[in-house]
Amino acid sequence: MKNNNSLRESLGTRLGFILLTAGCAIGLGNIWRFPFICGQYGGAIFVLIYLFFLVVLGFPVMVMELSLGRASRCDLFGAYKTLGSDKRIKWHYPGAVFFSGNIILMIFYTTVSGWMIAYSLKFASGTLSGLDSPGVGKHFGEFLADPGAMIGFMTLTVAISTAVCAIGLRNGVERITKILMAGLFLLLIGLCIRALFLPGAAEGLKFYLFPNLDSIRHIGLFRVVIEAMNQAFFTLSLGVGSIAIFGSYIDRTRTLPHETLAIIALDTTVAILSGVIIFPACFSFGVNPGSGPGLVFVSLPNVFNVMHGGRIWGTLFFLFMSFAALTTVVAVFENIIAFQIDELKFSRKIAALTTGIGIAVLSLPCALGFNLLSHVHPLGGNSTFLDLEDYIVSGNLLPLGSLCVILFCTSRYGWGWKNFLAEANAGRGMRFPAVLRIYVSAVIPVLILLLFLVGFFKQWAN
Ligand code: ALA
Repeated sequence: MKNNNSLRESLGTRLGFILLTAGCAIGLGNIWRFPFICGQYGGAIFVLIYLFFLVVLGFPVMVMELSLGRASRCDLFGAYKTLGSDKRIKWHYPGAVFFSGNIILMIFYTTVSGWMIAYSLKFASGTLSGLDSPGVGKHFGEFLADPGAMIGFMTLTVAISTAVCAIGLRNGVERITKILMAGLFLLLIGLCIRALFLPGAAEGLKFYLFPNLDSIRHIGLFRVVIEAMNQAFFTLSLGVGSIAIFGSYIDRTRTLPHETLAIIALDTTVAILSGVIIFPACFSFGVNPGSGPGLVFVSLPNVFNVMHGGRIWGTLFFLFMSFAALTTVVAVFENIIAFQIDELKFSRKIAALTTGIGIAVLSLPCALGFNLLSHVHPLGGNSTFLDLEDYIVSGNLLPLGSLCVILFCTSRYGWGWKNFLAEANAGRGMRFPAVLRIYVSAVIPVLILLLFLVGFFKQWAN
């Protein structure tokens, strides 16, 4: 059944769609999460496995999500409700649980996005100029310890994103994303060139690009494989409907595998470039690549501090990173808002307001987890609320949500393989190969389930 909602807003151009969807994919996952997870899980081996998962899992799941959005003309929850062929099976019940991943993602993402905004202002005002490497690390620690700063910048992120979404899809979200993504790409290329000329850059590149089996022995192969899979889902925002929503705004001129390739290529380029900037910087300034979520903030300011005009470059880098993070926040907010418009019949402005207020309140534990609530370690050890929320999303909701999307698109009790294939391949361009049916409907689900279960038991057995 197709729900052709003629009142639905649509995107102005194809480029707008690709950049907007890539804008949702490209964000902190590429420049903040990818380097620190890669640093913690062995460098080059992790990169190889991550690239493998982008192709074998990320590509088919993204095509499926876009197909569901385009066929149903609504959010993923609505797609589960309207497209299922056997109405006795309530796909939208698990769909609602996975949809909550959008909210949990945002309640830590907005805090880290706030760090990016804060660092662009710190560079612009010269606060970080002249600090040596330990000084840069100390500054970051003091910043996290300040609850006012944490809450203030998180709220600023939420307020900007709510305002953009309230303005509307084409005027707000599409226009702003096109300009910001182009700027981010140019800046990353410039910074890569600079990072490659740092003293000691070769050591960093070796860690990043040449596999070292010792790291696998030390960390454990399963751990690296699971983290690489989770990062592939995280970077493409798969499983929770953030991507499906963009399918609902486009027509059938192009096939969806064609569009998916462009989006994944853009996303992967940004992640790989960010590693080329960050790992040479770590080795050049004695920063441990495994230093966790603060990695970007304790490594990159050192690079800018030794660069000619570094204050300007640092301001620009964190400014563009703030934009990349904001485009993801805006896109995920858009998904939460579309759900309220489609399912609860709220107006866009009311939906934007409830989203903004709700996310700001729910983000407080993460923002306070580095200061007033720093004695709470939800996952044991030194873990924070950020770690817990990231684990719930990346380690659970994204892989299981993707599994649900796959089963729905391939099972005759769901939407079914034929309907999926017809929608994915409608239009001009590369087609989704029909011969992949067994692989997609049997091999991928078993792979995801297996890795999920191993990851789950490893997490709780510790
Ligand atoms: N895909 C988003 C990112 O990578 C969540 O930042």
